[in-house]
Amino acid sequence: MIGREMQFSPETIFISYSRADGRLFAESLERRLESEAGIRSWRDLKSIESGDIRRQALRAIEQAKHLVLILSRRALDSDWVRREWTHARMVGRKVSPVLADPTLKRGDLPGWMRREEVYDIADLERWRMLVRVLEGPGDSRRVPYMSGILTEDFVPRPAEYAALKEAVLAAGINKTVAVTTALWGAGGYDKTTLANYLCRDQDVRFEFTDGILRIEIGKERDDVTGLVVDLIETLDPQAKPPGFQDVDTAAEHLGELIGEARLLLVIDDVWREAQLRPFRRGGPNCVRLVTTRLPQVLPASHRSVAIDEMRETEAASLLSANLPVAEHSAVRPRLVALAKRLGFWAQMLSISAVFVWATMIGLL
Ligand SMILES: Nc1ncnc2c1ncn2[C@@H]1O[C@H](COP(=O)(O)OP(=O)(O)O)[C@@H](O)[C@H]1O
Ligand SMILES: [Mg+2]
Repeated sequence: MIGREMQFSPETIFISYSRADGRLFAESLERRLESEAGIRSWRDLKSIESGDIRRQALRAIEQAKHLVLILSRRALDSDWVRREWTHARMVGRKVSPVLADPTLKRGDLPGWMRREEVYDIADLERWRMLVRVLEGPGDSRRVPYMSGILTEDFVPRPAEYAALKEAVLAAGINKTVAVTTALWGAGGYDKTTLANYLCRDQDVRFEFTDGILRIEIGKERDDVTGLVVDLIETLDPQAKPPGFQDVDTAAEHLGELIGEARLLLVIDDVWREAQLRPFRRGGPNCVRLVTTRLPQVLPASHRSVAIDEMRETEAASLLSANLPVAEHSAVRPRLVALAKRLGFWAQMLSISAVFVWATMIGLL
């Protein structure tokens, strides 16, 4: 035990494993790293004394230099182990998978791992290679998780949200086609807000292990080349500014860069088919989530989630955000009546909420 306040030098390696079937392997790896290479490592049980073990483990990953992932069957099934390597990739720590179970095949591994070195350290050459990697810098590209701005007074819309989430995650099961999920409805009905909320969802972040990217298009934008280039630079920060002549060349490059990656690409506020087209190239494992008012801009194969007016209770909560008396029995029916007159329209309700509030505190 290191002590109540966890301390470890930045040289420390974080070892992520499943206790169910990877513990012995993890312990012996830890000893071997220390005795043969002088590399110190950190495992949860040994180094934590008390408190919220999971939160501490995530902090430890942020402070560690590398994450070594012990590959066993249970580790691959474990949500927690997955959380650890997702977190490492999100904060830009290098993840080095080490094979503990020789019966595992490449096909058992998530996509990003198949593209990484996997070390079978029974082989001395591979062991030396792992040690060299762990002695080197552990910074790696942060997997981007963009999410856009979310209003402070966000009112959840459980039914629509569940439908949206299901559509995006179900698109995820189909590994061979790019499925476009579309969220449509008139302006100010909550499409962007729900999409932004989805980007923050842990389950969604878990699913999209190569990240979540987000762009805003808008009615006035005729040329989307700049947005394509932004995405290229996010996915490949080493890339020299490419100076693409035209949107097609840029789009082709983006498609190649996405490759097999398990990405969610949120394309917000599309008005014309030509604005969407450059983002639809390649990427069989990439799910595109489009928000638009105009279903005709969408590809034939899309799945739609329709967003309409809010439910009475949702509308009343939005209208009464920050109101101390909102639950008061005399106030509630009047809020509902006002919400009804505003057509349960999210944007209008949110604007009106300010007036309701101002009236209540006597400004108007
Ligand atoms: N669920 C919600 N909770 C709180 N405010 C919301 C919600 N949905 C929408 N709004 C308000 O309405 C505005 C417009 O919503 P938005 O999601 O941008 O609409 P759309 O993308 O459909 O045009 C938001 O900026 C916000 O102020
Ligand atoms: Mg919008």
